[in-house]
Amino acid sequence: MHFIPQSSHRVVAIDGPAASGKSSVARKLAQRLGFAYVNSGAIYRAITWYILQKGIDTRDVRHVTQATESAHIACSLQNNESRIFINDVDPTDYLRDDRVNESVSQVSRVARVREIAVQKMRDCVRNHDVIVEGRDIGSIVFPETPYKFYIDASPDVRLRRRAAQGEHDEIKMRDHADSSRPVSPLVIAQDAHVIDTSHLTLEGVVNQIIARLKQNGLHVSTCFNVSTMNVYYWLGYHLSRLIGRLFFSFQVIHRERMIQNGPVILAMNHQSYLDPPLAGTTCDRPIYFLARKTLMDIPLLGWLLPKLNVIPVNQEGIDRSALKALIRVLKSGNAALVFPEGARTLDGNLQPAQRGLGLVIAKTLAPVVPMRIFGAHEALPRGGGGLHLVPITIVIGEPIFFTTADVKSTAKDIYQRLSQRVMDEIAALRLE
Ligand code: CDP
Ligand code: CDP
Repeated sequence: MHFIPQSSHRVVAIDGPAASGKSSVARKLAQRLGFAYVNSGAIYRAITWYILQKGIDTRDVRHVTQATESAHIACSLQNNESRIFINDVDPTDYLRDDRVNESVSQVSRVARVREIAVQKMRDCVRNHDVIVEGRDIGSIVFPETPYKFYIDASPDVRLRRRAAQGEHDEIKMRDHADSSRPVSPLVIAQDAHVIDTSHLTLEGVVNQIIARLKQNGLHVSTCFNVSTMNVYYWLGYHLSRLIGRLFFSFQVIHRERMIQNGPVILAMNHQSYLDPPLAGTTCDRPIYFLARKTLMDIPLLGWLLPKLNVIPVNQEGIDRSALKALIRVLKSGNAALVFPEGARTLDGNLQPAQRGLGLVIAKTLAPVVPMRIFGAHEALPRGGGGLHLVPITIVIGEPIFFTTADVKSTAKDIYQRLSQRVMDEIAALRLE
């Protein structure tokens, strides 16, 4: 049993087998509570990647130990999420490779590797409120925390979930190895609350955990550091709301689903020029928008748009600098509006998704709030037809929390698939 001094920061431990939903649940929970999210599996995966890179046989305990001891492993919290560097290299893109999936359980069973990983984790979360997910978080890494959960799902469900993520992962083998190893095996900590997620939605699991945390006396703060609007943005925001209400009976359905802090992509279908200002009113904070670069050449607009958080985009081909700017604002914890279809609809129907959104999701892992606008095409159709004072409504969907397995960059057509998944969620939204 390890002794760890009592500390004032709070740790929620989430353990469970592969594909039980730990990462998705932990990320969503962290966002809801304003805690940081720590993926402990990423440390074991990073070390495994490093061992493989060095050409060491992952079954060779002596060499695995030596290589791990001599590597410089850094774990830090960036944007409320853990990031691992090995010898100053960020291995994130390789952590879900098939060969890492195959070998990680061999590396994670090495006692010295675990000792080093556990110490890194503890150092990393010092003084922070965190959600930590893994295999031994409640039993070994933070045994003193009163907030322990073990989430599970039937083997069939877990297999299906992994397959849906497009990943080749022998989870049965990994589960067996992780549960039967002599050092810190996957066990249900004595005082952990067990949740079977087989038939629960992500939202359902998170709600159960929050209810339990409150019962256990965790004080959940809903007060976050929200960036404030500059005077131009504030005026534009309130003017948009006023005009929306007066002329378009504008309403937002399920505004409570909006993520009001941290990085988030608001993904909406695109019908008219009215979309950006109206979509902006779904958030309590200033959000970022993308707009045609040529608008910047118009004298007054060129001065005003940057003050309204507009990122200029060159519409010919893929504008890499605009994508980079968008990724930067998200990584700094901001919200941004993205139209997955790329351009306004001509006939009012939804259009196929472009892959740009998928790329941004993969690079940032920002949660996505799907939104669908109704009525804006009738109010101000593309291609002329003038302005019509008809009702406009935005329906907000449940946020989508992607995991590293979802965004694995080597999977085929991954950007397109991510964009399409968001577009499908948008299409499923209805006026109630
Ligand atoms: O996402 P998934 O549950 O499939 O795996 P992960 O959390 O990324 O963990 C990958 C591997 O790291 C596991 O199969 C374990 O062998 C190891 N691991 C561990 O031993 N202890 C932890 N606290 C977390 C992960
Ligand atoms: O981290 P872990 O390997 O435990 O699982 P995950 O990567 O968070 O979840 C695997 C997949 O199952 C993800 O695509 C989740 O969206 C999905 N999932 C689900 O459909 N329902 C749940 N209650 C939990 C997760």
